[in-house]
Amino acid sequence: MNSSYLNSAAGALLGILFVVMTLSIVSDGIYHAPVPETQGFAIAVAEGTTETAEPAEEAGPVDIAPLLASADAARGESQFRKCSACHTNDAGNANKVGPGLWNIVNKPVATHEGFNYSPAMVAFSQGGTVVWDYQHLSEFIEAPKAHIPGTAMSFAGIKKVDERADLIAYLRTIADTPAPLPDATAAAAEEAAPAEEAAPAEAEPAAEPATAPSE
Ligand code: HEC
Repeated sequence: MNSSYLNSAAGALLGILFVVMTLSIVSDGIYHAPVPETQGFAIAVAEGTTETAEPAEEAGPVDIAPLLASADAARGESQFRKCSACHTNDAGNANKVGPGLWNIVNKPVATHEGFNYSPAMVAFSQGGTVVWDYQHLSEFIEAPKAHIPGTAMSFAGIKKVDERADLIAYLRTIADTPAPLPDATAAAAEEAAPAEEAAPAEAEPAAEPATAPSE
């Protein structure tokens, strides 16, 4: 009799276990909560709500000097096809629709013999005291009519700064003696003759580079 009591007790226990497991499986099916991919609450913060979000890209004209050191004059020569309809690039320096561009780098503005410049270009030259330094060339070629309103040069401009750098590197080569590159000379001078000239490499980014050899 004792063993039959144990039997029925064990049977009851198994029965309870069965019911509990069944309930658990069923309730899991009903109340299954998927585990979230990220734990906790995602707090959505809108980006760019601070005033300083965008770096001021258009704070002014791009400084072309640092780009010239790595510019490719050969690529610039192909760029020159955009100019050759109106400009010659050989030592003959003949005028076409536009003035010949031989020796153009650091040449005083609007001083090509026999070329009839627009009043705007003449005014821009300030009596021949302004020269075509790298920066002026870059800004003029980027948007001729914006840099010199009223210029007779009907050319939309080259917006990509790398392309301008290549082209200007090429313009530099169409000369009796290519003008020094702004950065390369500073670096080379430092290597060749340290402290000889102590060139202030960090000179003020002045609007008018103080290299104008005119007067
Ligand atoms: C549609 C013809 C035309 C095209 C294309 C053209 N130019 Fe000119 N360019 C002119 C004319 C015309 C002038 C004279 C502008 C004036 O007097 O206002 C001029 C003037 C210039 C000057 C000033 C020269 C000086 O003696 O002061 C430079 C530098 C120059 N162009 C560079 C370029 C370059 C670089 C390109 C190619 C990216 C180019 N131009 C494309 C017609 C053109």
